[in-house]
Amino acid sequence: MKKITVPVISSMKNKTKIVMVTAYDAPTAKIVDESGVDIVLVGDSLGNVIQGLKNTLPVTVEEMIYHTKIVSRGIKNAHLCSDMPFMSYQSSNLDAVRNAGRFVKEAGAESVKIEVTEDYIDTIKEIRKAGIPVMGHIGLRPQSVHDMGGYKLQGRDKKEAEKLLSLAKKIEEAGAFSLVLESIPQKLAKKITKSINIPTIGIGAGVDCDGQVLVINDLSGMSEEPLPKFVKKYADARNILKDATKEYVDEVRSGAFPTKEHSYD
Ligand code: KIV
Repeated sequence: MKKITVPVISSMKNKTKIVMVTAYDAPTAKIVDESGVDIVLVGDSLGNVIQGLKNTLPVTVEEMIYHTKIVSRGIKNAHLCSDMPFMSYQSSNLDAVRNAGRFVKEAGAESVKIEVTEDYIDTIKEIRKAGIPVMGHIGLRPQSVHDMGGYKLQGRDKKEAEKLLSLAKKIEEAGAFSLVLESIPQKLAKKITKSINIPTIGIGAGVDCDGQVLVINDLSGMSEEPLPKFVKKYADARNILKDATKEYVDEVRSGAFPTKEHSYD
């Protein structure tokens, strides 16, 4: 397996589907890396998935740096991208460049992801100027949950769809190396994907994107149900862990564990 770099990711457009998955700790990062994913994303979904929060807004730069650091220890081949959390780039471009730099310098990230509107095109350019690759994220932007009035499908009407298409082109021009499309109609995702030369990575955006991303806890079945419509549950990790723990509880209480096999003479 070769190391997946930004040029490798760029070259995959129109050739090979890109597979991205989130991870938040070293052992999970090692498992997904060994499974052959192209990009490991330390998502600020950390807030919902690991920290038990109801949205991503309270997640801090320090927490994201800590999790990026530990994820980096589990990765050999995959590209490591880190989410810049809420208010780490919105306040000024100077803050954006400084914080993006911390992800690379202190945590081992190889790129950063930001949620983009027209107001953040210059932010992409400034981070790029520092030599840090940027992944854009449009459509449903969880950091703007209050502004959007909830986690809703975006780009449904013609005007909204045209806005997103135009935004995607500006993000490419600004120098982003890839673009996450979250919760938009499949047709619109296809149109955006065909209209830009950087790879699109979809989540709830249909099959025509250049790649797909899912949250590891959702795809493995660790997350509590109900799950969003766009998630496919590939395993039942939550019940596997629950059953194993229940069996351990029963065996300790009955004296069936530990046996001689698990004891020292
Ligand atoms: O935070 C996250 O995990 C994400 C992905 C779902 C794209 O932004």
